Amino acid sequence: MGKKGFIFDLDGVIVDTAKYHFLAWKKLANSIGVDFTETQNEQLKGVSRVRSLEKILDWGNKTLTEEEFSQLMAKKNEDYLSYINKMDASEILPNVSKVLDYLIEQQQPIALGSASKNAKPILEKVDLLSAFDAIVDGNDVSKAKPDPEVFLIGAKLLNVKPEDCIVFEDSVAGIQAANVANMISIGIGDHDILHEADYNFKNFTEMDNTFLKGIISGTIQKKQ
Ligand code: BG6
Ligand code: MG
Repeated sequence: MGKKGFIFDLDGVIVDTAKYHFLAWKKLANSIGVDFTETQNEQLKGVSRVRSLEKILDWGNKTLTEEEFSQLMAKKNEDYLSYINKMDASEILPNVSKVLDYLIEQQQPIALGSASKNAKPILEKVDLLSAFDAIVDGNDVSKAKPDPEVFLIGAKLLNVKPEDCIVFEDSVAGIQAANVANMISIGIGDHDILHEADYNFKNFTEMDNTFLKGIISGTIQKKQ
């Protein structure tokens, strides 16, 4: 069996926080008179906090001063953190712990590759910090997904070549980033939205150890 690098996105893959980002952005958008739909929210998944607010302002045709912009960013995070502070291990998405345990048992290196600046406190809250050999988050990158930077740093920290890495993602931007990095991209969520992924699963309960075994042994490979 070969040594691969398994890179997991956080929000919407490991934990059910995508809904909290949505609620916080919706509240903020509505507070400045901008409509915010679930379809628009899809376009913010995997996207940094700054870029997300820029997009919302664009959609609503709003311009703000720099000071107003930072105030709104702080407000969004404050709101988001009020949800995060109540989190515990029950918000780990189904079968995630089982998948992580299997990979650890198979001695496969595991990294986190997230755009979030709140990644570490969230992993601490749900008691998963120790499952990761490397953590790359929004504090470590200068270029946001779909740029592959976050995953390339992850591969480097795991000491695994990019083409031997596998990325689990729930965002279009993240799948594109994995593909640019020449990593196997696995979409977790809606197949229609994540159709650029090499493989798709609705969630981790649909993915069994046979699939992971195939990835580790190299019988399951990148499609494109
Ligand atoms: C990504 C989320 O993981 O992190 C985005 O999908 C979010 O919705 C981004 O905007 C940044 O997160 P944070 O916690 O730094 O605001
Ligand atoms: Mg995500």
